[in-house]
Amino acid sequence: MAKARRTARAKTMGMARENGGHSITLTVNGQSYTRVTEPRVLLVDFLRDDLRLTGTHVGCDTSHCGACTVLLDGRAVKSCTVLAVQAEGRAVTTIEGLAQHGRLHPIQEAFKEHHGLQCGFCTPGVVLAALELLRADHAPTEERIRTAISGNICRCTGYQNIVDSVAAAGERMKSGKW
Ligand code: FES
Ligand code: FES
Repeated sequence: MAKARRTARAKTMGMARENGGHSITLTVNGQSYTRVTEPRVLLVDFLRDDLRLTGTHVGCDTSHCGACTVLLDGRAVKSCTVLAVQAEGRAVTTIEGLAQHGRLHPIQEAFKEHHGLQCGFCTPGVVLAALELLRADHAPTEERIRTAISGNICRCTGYQNIVDSVAAAGERMKSGKW
């Protein structure tokens, strides 16, 4: 299935170039990119295939799992439900943009310390959903945390360690601008 998806995307990218496509400029993790893409290309595919930012995962393609969650102008969105052309002129944050100068982001540190992940497939999406929450509220209630990550499915952890990690990350984020 992954191979078929890659083949289909390779064809789409070739067609975009042949047909002229749409030139879009967007900022991803603080860096500006201009690329030609077809109007039907999803943001998640654009990030993974055109920019090679493969930390954003595809779990379902049907807006259920949340593995593809990124921040778009600071708001958590499922990037399999957004077209790349809709991100024109906007700012995207992916998991690759969190660590700075070789140092993990406080949320990543907290997930590491509190065992907030196992296989890690859901983790980039969960971390970005948590980032939106914690920028607004450094001390969210457990209920608020669970609501914030309710669009993210984890098949491994049972969620409690994720909730503990997000709560601990809020403490870490109190000092500093993240
Ligand atoms: Fe986007 Fe599952 S891949 S919600
Ligand atoms: Fe495996 Fe969440 S850690 S799916």
